[in-house]
Amino acid sequence: IIILRPIMKKYKRHLVTAALPYANGPVHIGHLAGNFLPADIYVRYLRANNEDVKFICGTDEHGVPITIRAMKEGVTPQEIVDKYFTIINDSLHQMGISFDIFSRTSNQIHHDTSQAFFLNLYEKGLFEERESAQFFDEEKQIFLADRYITGTCPKCGNENAYGDQCEKCGSSLSPEELINPKSALSQSVPIKKNTIHWYLPLQHYEEWLKQWIIEDHKEWKNNVYGQCKSWLDSGLHARAMTRDSHWGVAVPLPNAEGKVLYVWFDAPIGYISATKELTPQWSDYWCKEDTKLVHFLGKDNIVFHCIIFPAMLKAHGGFVLPNNVPANEFLNIEGEKVSTSRNWAVWVDEYLKDFPEMQDSMRYTLCANMPETKDNDFTWKDFQDRNNNELVAILGNFVNRAFVLMHKLCNGKVPAFHLDQKDEKDDALFEKIVQTKKDIETSIENYRFREGLFSVIDLARKGNIYLQDKEPWKKGDDQIAIDNCIHMCLQLTANLAIFMNPFLPFTAQKLCKMMKVVDRMLAWEHGGSLKLLQKGYPLNPPALLFRKIEDEEIALQKEKLSKGSQQATSSQSQVTPTASLKETISFEDFDKIDIRVATITAAEKVAKADKLLKLTLDLGFETRTVVSGIALHYSPEEIVGKQVSVIANLAPRKMKGIESNGMILMAENATGKLIFINADGGAMNGSQVK
Ligand code: 2FM
Ligand code: ZN
Repeated sequence: IIILRPIMKKYKRHLVTAALPYANGPVHIGHLAGNFLPADIYVRYLRANNEDVKFICGTDEHGVPITIRAMKEGVTPQEIVDKYFTIINDSLHQMGISFDIFSRTSNQIHHDTSQAFFLNLYEKGLFEERESAQFFDEEKQIFLADRYITGTCPKCGNENAYGDQCEKCGSSLSPEELINPKSALSQSVPIKKNTIHWYLPLQHYEEWLKQWIIEDHKEWKNNVYGQCKSWLDSGLHARAMTRDSHWGVAVPLPNAEGKVLYVWFDAPIGYISATKELTPQWSDYWCKEDTKLVHFLGKDNIVFHCIIFPAMLKAHGGFVLPNNVPANEFLNIEGEKVSTSRNWAVWVDEYLKDFPEMQDSMRYTLCANMPETKDNDFTWKDFQDRNNNELVAILGNFVNRAFVLMHKLCNGKVPAFHLDQKDEKDDALFEKIVQTKKDIETSIENYRFREGLFSVIDLARKGNIYLQDKEPWKKGDDQIAIDNCIHMCLQLTANLAIFMNPFLPFTAQKLCKMMKVVDRMLAWEHGGSLKLLQKGYPLNPPALLFRKIEDEEIALQKEKLSKGSQQATSSQSQVTPTASLKETISFEDFDKIDIRVATITAAEKVAKADKLLKLTLDLGFETRTVVSGIALHYSPEEIVGKQVSVIANLAPRKMKGIESNGMILMAENATGKLIFINADGGAMNGSQVK
């Protein structure tokens, strides 16, 4: 089936970029939701449509924060970027972000490309050379970027305002406005020193930008269009495209010793240099008008991608401009803004360790909460609910039922569909499949990824309803009715694999294995067909697509989040973190708790739960099982024989299918390891702890 797709086919090729993350820390889930995930969904969809697409990214390895971090840690900037390049690259790759290239702005090809770009503008006389006095830290021998000057805000009196902004009252500031300015690096009072820089007079591009964005790109997302409009309305000014530093791309001019390109000048050129590194045909992608260039990024990058970089491209000439810049807003965590300095973040590398093989659960949750039009919130509870109530209970459940029934009622093979027995429910399901395909196309092509994802899950929901209505397990020897129903469910499963593939690629692959089909089946053009699986074709038994997430796992993550942020704050303020005291209880309340001494007589790991151990406890008067979240701290062998205190009258609770009868008491030592609160030698098992 060839389906003509006018929106796509207008362009011969696609160039998709995701904003280059700074190589001065790992990436967190806010980066995924804002930038990498939407870009990846879009690209996977284009590839499934057999479009010619290149997906470009890499690390942004220059800029002041990297040099300052290196200074603080006593290492070189190169060591910092090498370390984080590896971490970021691994995290994104493991999350299934399918770049065609993930490069680095420290590569030679990037330095060469950016210098050539700068020289092109320089030789055309497009820069203004200006001398100005800037703040300089004599102790550290470094010019101070605005962010590294602190002082008192002239508007609200906040003593910790930055040279570019006061975070208390939100005013934009310049360092000159600060009262009692200080260097954030040495706390010394900075001096003013003259320095020369090259400025791009953005005001010369204002009229052109107004036409290009305000008039010609009214279809851009409101948040993007609005931000551009307000920048343009307030008037553009010349902006320095160079900085004083020894880390970065050297300004390619004589007498420019100690000067580098402004990081926001070189970073977006990184998209071009990475494409060069990827393919000798790079100029087809960058210079031919039938390329569709789309930049994915977070809202803090809008001005750079919509105003400054396009002005640079225009000044240079010969490059395509972005067709769209579908920037997202921010993802908050548990109701609070992500803060890397406070460690209020969910780090992707840590998530991957804590939830191995569960990339799609996170991709699903982040897409469902993608901050497309406004800031949105990620909570661990929502992650658990989406996983358990949507992925497990709707999608996983439907596929599992279809496969189990096929093995039970149809000999493990795709049954025939008897057209003469088709009914209106079959027709309705077919129509729903066809409609879903169209809906997802519209959603993705218009950068509405949440909506697209909801169409997928809604189709699975319809599958469950269909199966429930048809009740093939009650059809006795009416094999035709059974066959038709199972046949439809299996074709629906194959369609679901195609539709989910851009969003949940790991699960789509698992489905291909279950259906014993090759990846080719996932081509978008196959979607909407009821002939994806041949009758009589034997299928594999169902595999587990998603596993349930237990309350304990969520509690641990929440604890990790608050502990991480407590530690970050305490290492700043030198205070030892302790949990705040719970509210007072009466003696009667306390007396309800029955704590007993017990000995661990056996311990084993719990399958599919990294953190849980199943313990057998001897309480003297009885033996019982307790499941405890201590597996990351102890191996089963090392705790057998230990005496512990156990809350013996806690209501039983199921964890990973095992009934836990009680809870052992643990506390944390100074390094964060859990230690046993045990009776001090010779207590009798079963005796009460009072
Ligand atoms: O905000 C950031 O994380 C920047 N490193 C993004 C750069 S995007 C591009 F222009 F390179
Ligand atoms: Zn202020």
